[in-house]
Amino acid sequence: MLRWIVAVCALMLALPLSVSSARAEDGYDLWLRYRPVEAGYTIPATSIVSEGSTPTLTAAAEELKRGLTGLSGKAIDTGTVSDNAIIIGTPSSSASIAILNPDLTKAGEEGYVIRTTRLNDKPVTIIAANRDIGVLYGVFEYLRLIQTRQPLTNLNIADTPKVKLRVLNHWDNLDGSVERGYSGTTIWDWWKLPDVRHPRYTDYARANASLGINGTVLNNVNSKAVSLSPAYIQKTAALADVFRPYGIKVYLSARFSAPIEEGGLKTADPLDPAVRAWWKAKVDEIYAAIPDFGGFLVKANSEGQPGPQDYKRNHADGANMLAEALKPHGGVVMWRAFVYSHEKPDDRHKQAYDEFKALDGQFADNVLVQVKNGAIDFQPREPFHPLFGAMPKTPLMMEFQITKEYLGFSTHLAYLGQYYEETLKADTFAKGKTGNTVAKVVEGAIDGHTLTGIAGVANIGMDRNWSGSDFDQANWYAFGRLAWNPQASSRAIADDWARMTFSNDPAFVAPVVDMMMTSRETVADYMTPLGLHHLMDTGHHYGPGPWVDNLERADWNPVYYHKADINGIGFDRMKTGSNAISQYTPKAAKAWANPKTMDERYLLWFHHVPWDYKVKSGRSLWDEVVITYSKGAADTTAMRNRWASLKPYVDAERFDAVATNLMIQEREAKWWRDASVAYFQSVSKRPLPEGYAPPEKTLDYYRSLKFPYAPGN
Ligand code: GCU
Repeated sequence: MLRWIVAVCALMLALPLSVSSARAEDGYDLWLRYRPVEAGYTIPATSIVSEGSTPTLTAAAEELKRGLTGLSGKAIDTGTVSDNAIIIGTPSSSASIAILNPDLTKAGEEGYVIRTTRLNDKPVTIIAANRDIGVLYGVFEYLRLIQTRQPLTNLNIADTPKVKLRVLNHWDNLDGSVERGYSGTTIWDWWKLPDVRHPRYTDYARANASLGINGTVLNNVNSKAVSLSPAYIQKTAALADVFRPYGIKVYLSARFSAPIEEGGLKTADPLDPAVRAWWKAKVDEIYAAIPDFGGFLVKANSEGQPGPQDYKRNHADGANMLAEALKPHGGVVMWRAFVYSHEKPDDRHKQAYDEFKALDGQFADNVLVQVKNGAIDFQPREPFHPLFGAMPKTPLMMEFQITKEYLGFSTHLAYLGQYYEETLKADTFAKGKTGNTVAKVVEGAIDGHTLTGIAGVANIGMDRNWSGSDFDQANWYAFGRLAWNPQASSRAIADDWARMTFSNDPAFVAPVVDMMMTSRETVADYMTPLGLHHLMDTGHHYGPGPWVDNLERADWNPVYYHKADINGIGFDRMKTGSNAISQYTPKAAKAWANPKTMDERYLLWFHHVPWDYKVKSGRSLWDEVVITYSKGAADTTAMRNRWASLKPYVDAERFDAVATNLMIQEREAKWWRDASVAYFQSVSKRPLPEGYAPPEKTLDYYRSLKFPYAPGN
């Protein structure tokens, strides 16, 4: 017994890092695990020289210390200039950086340079920036180089973000629930704030700063006016204090009718002087508590939310009123274009464009219009939103969904980096020019906007692994990296993430990255093949519901979107139908106008097509629909098998967690396939293509399934 105790103690002393790593491999550390590198990879870093003491520089030095100590397996501390020191700072905070006088023109306001050089005849690495925050970002970049095993000699890197506001949107409610959240309750402990400041808030800030995310909207777009009350401003201020060293500003979703609910006024009419005065005073009160408050996000006149149209005013009237109050403090308004009001019966695809396009040029210069990636609602595949490229005088902010409301919650594996890239790379042909991609619109590059932004609806909750599953962390990661550089490659990002999160072994990285890159297509195949959309069940959006036809509004029903009958299927958005296609520039529209030549993954988004129509494969559309559903389902089996083969490379806890999710995904993909095929067959009345199995259960069975406690709803 004694021998056994001695042996265990010796092991613990010898392997302090791996002991702690065994405990920590539950996903909490995200991509910032900093586990020791393998022998053969050298980290030429002996000490950290940080001569500044601001909170941000302190955070940078601490992160570097934590990272280097973990990665090298030996304590690396702050010190003075010596061989292989890492010197961090700005020319004004650090005498050493000032002496070396690096060229910081490419670092911009938030970027950095990382360079190997010599000081006092000693080889050193510098991480320098114009502002403290750039130093922190540079530290994370330097650690990423190590985490992904890149050479650290002859470094000469300069980088700066291409987008100014890189913001998470939390759809978190004050009662602790998260709308469309699949990773537990909110991480904001509103009740105990402002006094209790959980360490998790700091880890949240670190993770975001590691990606360059510089803003967070704390509360749901379906907001409560009480978020703007004095008590909640104090709670928000406490979070702002925690995030400030990490370069993260806080924003709030503002309820348009707050002057009535919080202020006791009779109206929220944006042109009413008393209403304007209320907002001005409210904004002044917020800035007194949070001097660097970012501004407001607003969902107005959408899905029952109050807005300026309630007073016969338009979106610009509403946004500009708030912008006027925020302007003296440097705050912005992020006004959402996700609108479909109750009065408008036209194709929902067209409504944002119809309401906003005409307002181009009317918004104040501190307003951004925040537009979802597509015109319907974060479907597994959507063409880019027609507003991108259509409002040259207005900064358009991209809104992606990181949480997977429509892609299987947190139990299906779908790497959204590939989806974000697809949207960002899409050519709007704005101004008739090839290459004016969505990314360039968002970067402000086409029309010279300096106020630019990109938002992601967060997938963060109290689950130990933050995002509900290990692979959902990749979507947070990819969002942040693409917000920094919308032209980055999602494959390269997946590669970094897999290395940092799991393993650098090429035998692991290559298959995992391949699996990630095809995973979103797989989901689109088994849920919404060939451009179908909005087929999920009511309310919770979990599982198939293509038969749903009983909801109050026509455009809430899946049958409205697929329009399947005995003859054919698909939404005609050509001139012969809703003509939504006309909202795109002629060149962009051309890509989708001809069913014969177009990318068929968008076919039924734009065209109503007979079941007998011959698709490019030579098969009938009906056969193609069934075969694509079946392929999607089969691909989930392949994913599960692939993961099983990677067991030797992954710690047991995370391996099992992912394997369990892939099993759920496989089962649910089959359910999606079977239920959808059963339903569409009941409409098309056609036989299944040869060799394709009939659905396991009856259509009535699939229709009878109910999920009263599905999360996020
Ligand atoms: C979707 C989602 C809602 C959300 C809305 C929005 O409709 O289902 O939960 O509030 O988008 O983006 O405002």
